[in-house]
Order: sequence, then structure tokens, then C-alpha cells
Amino acid sequence: MKREHWGSRLGFILAAAGSAVGLGNIWKFPYMAGVNGGGAFLLIYLALVFTIGLSVMLAEMVIGRMAEKNAIGAFKKLKGGAWPLVGLCGVAAAFMILSFYSVVAGWTIAYMVKSVSGAISSSDPAVLGAAFGGFISGSISPLFYHAIFMALTVFVVLSGIGSGIERASKILMPALFVLLLVLIVRAVTLPGADKGLAFLLQPDFSKVTWHTVSDALSQAFFSLSLGMGAMITYGSYLSKKENISGAAGWVTLLDTAVAVLAGLLVLPAVFAFGFDPAAGPGLTFITLPAVFAQMPFGAFFAFLFFLLLAIAALTSSVSILEVVVAYFVDDRGVNRKMASIVVGVIIFFLGIPSSLSMGMMADTKFFGMTFFDLMDFLSSKLLLPIGGLFISLFVGWVVWGAAKADIAAHNGTVPFWINGWGIVVKFIAPLAIAFILIQGLMG
Ligand code: PHE
Repeated sequence: MKREHWGSRLGFILAAAGSAVGLGNIWKFPYMAGVNGGGAFLLIYLALVFTIGLSVMLAEMVIGRMAEKNAIGAFKKLKGGAWPLVGLCGVAAAFMILSFYSVVAGWTIAYMVKSVSGAISSSDPAVLGAAFGGFISGSISPLFYHAIFMALTVFVVLSGIGSGIERASKILMPALFVLLLVLIVRAVTLPGADKGLAFLLQPDFSKVTWHTVSDALSQAFFSLSLGMGAMITYGSYLSKKENISGAAGWVTLLDTAVAVLAGLLVLPAVFAFGFDPAAGPGLTFITLPAVFAQMPFGAFFAFLFFLLLAIAALTSSVSILEVVVAYFVDDRGVNRKMASIVVGVIIFFLGIPSSLSMGMMADTKFFGMTFFDLMDFLSSKLLLPIGGLFISLFVGWVVWGAAKADIAAHNGTVPFWINGWGIVVKFIAPLAIAFILIQGLMG
């Protein structure tokens, strides 16, 4: 069977950007910045994204395109030996990430409903905090929305690459961008918003520890969808003639732009309404309704925002499930429908304890963490950076000549910076990741 390809270059960029832009940008980035003191975190994050992040992004896309295979199969085809284990860790990370990702994405669907029903139309922090806490600590209702979100993800993945993933991304990504801009105008003109802007834009390096740096690194990997083979898998559907260095640059830029915009939306609102920036995972869900409550047609905007957020989450969750499904389809000969449904159901069950971590299982601790935090820790803090480390080593030391030739062939010439990129993938990225990882774990 001929491998399916993206319909166009723009289709690929938007699908890859769709994978990158998601809850990581709008839900996770603002609270990670909030917990880690704001501006200094932002600067460190930006530095890591445009060095290590961009480099690993390009490495994954090259691997995928050269091999035209899923994350495990690509390593097998290009080299074999123990290398496919890197892909296997990626598949394991995919299971973990999607299990809690879908729970949070379910919250966004629930909030679409709540914005219409009036359940969150208040600008009182206490009321909004209680509404959010009450909802996520329940059992049945959050699980119901988690099931709906997983079902949607499965549906898109089983429909295939071009008709499902690509078509959805093309329409919805631009819409999200525009709505964010509209909302920022409202947020930054709230009385008191300037303190939030200062928090995000004026770095205070006195609060920076290795912990901050390692949080920024895992956030960069999570947000750019790196380290678990999502970009290998998407790159494998890329036709041989596309310019991938340009695509990697665009995806990185778009993803970063959306994260910064989300920070500019959420943090000014946090200060304007007197929320705590270090409130953690609830931050976006409790502050934004307060912003909507201050706007004409607030319920409408709230609905639209949570709809677009749910869709952004869907274009990401689809890429996570695709990592696993592509493996079963390419290497195990399972049909796409069957693979999508079975894996989707397993991930739904794995997500149940994450959802219950907010209520019934809040006191059930694993190494001092709730199940939700454990899944997040194992995947974002460990597996993704370690995956990125080995992906860099693989491209830098094992397939560098071929990778360089691949990029050169399709850009016409070797872009001037590609030789410099060699130094980054061979030395700088692996050493920096290893160093930050070790410091972060000891700190
Ligand atoms: N990048 C996605 C987001 O920011 C999440 C994701 C992580 C997707 C890992 C794919 C792989 O929401």
C-alpha cells in the first residue's frame, strides 16, 4: 500500500502546528510561568525553545521523512540495534500523556456547556474557584467528558491523515489565533492588569533555580510535541520534496507565539481579579471566566473560547494517538480502525485514576504524587527530555550524513546554518538536556 501523504505543504505545517498548539500552550504554559515566577521563566523558556527545541524538531522531522515510518519503525529502518527502544519509550509516553491530557480536555468541553448554562458567569474568584474545584473533584461528570473527548480523538484518527487531521487543522487553528487576540485586548485593559504584564515581562532572576530551568525544558518539549515521536510520525507522511527546515521553524514560531499570547491573556487577568498566579492547573479555568464576565456577550465569548480550546486540544491529542496507531498499522499490520479504537479504550481507562486524582483519589499518593501528577512527571519531566536527548544523538552521530543530504536535496543547497546545526544536535542539545535533567532531579 502506498503511504498516505499530506495534501500540501501548508497542510503539513498546520497539522504539525496543530499538534504543537494545544492545552500545553493555553492551559499549562500560563500556570507553569505563574508557579515559576513569571518573566525569568519566560526568558529561559524562549532560549530553550529556539536552541534545543528547534533542533530536536528538525531532527524528528528528518527521521520521519527519511524512514517514512512510525516512531519505532523509523529507528529500526534507519539503524536497528537498540535504537528502536527510543521509539518504544515514545509510545509509552504517548499512553501516559494522552491519558491525563484527555481528562483536562474533557474539562474544556464541560466548560463549553457551563458557559452556556450560566454556571461560571461570575467574576468573583471565590465563586469561580469553588465551581471549578467542585466540578473536577466529582467522579462521574469529569469522566463522562473525558470519554467524549477520547471518542472524538479516536474518530479523527480512524478517519486517516488527510481527511481527518489536516482538514480540521486548516480551519480551526487560524480561528483560535484571532480569538486569542480579541480576548487579550479585553484582559490587558482591565484595571490592575498592568501588574500581570509586569509579572510576565520583567524577569526576576533571584527566584530562578535548576528546578525552574528543568520545568522550562519539560514545558518546551511538551508544548512543541517533541521527544516521543509525534513529529517523526507526522514527518513520515511528508512528501520527499518539502522544505522541512522551513516547516520546523514555522511550527516552533507559531507554538511559541500562542504560548506567549496565552500568558498575556491569563496573567493580566490573574492580577486584575486578585487570583494567585501560583494556583496551578486550575489557573486558566478559574481566571478566564472572570474575564468573560466583564465582557459584553460574555457567555458567547466564553463558549467560543472553550470550543476553540477543545479543538486545539483535539488536534494535539490526535497526534499523540497517531504515534501509537501508526506503529500498530505499519509494523504490526493491524487495521487503522481497530488500532484506533482499542488503543483509545485502553487510554480512556488509564485516564480514570488521573481524573479521580482531583477528588476521590486525591490522597492516594505514588512517590508523593497523585496519579495525575505522576503521569505528568514521568512523561513530561523524564521520557520527553530523554527521548529528545537520544533523538539528537541519533541524528547527530548515526545518520548525520544522510540527514544533511536529505535536507540539502530538498532545499536546493545546504542552508548556511545546517553545518552549525550539526554542532547543536551532536553536542550542545544532548549535553544541555542531560545536564538540566540531572540538575532538575537533584534540586
Ligand atoms: N504539544 C501539545 C500541547 O501543547 C501536547 C503534546 C505533547 C502533543 C506531546 C503531542 C506530543 O498541547
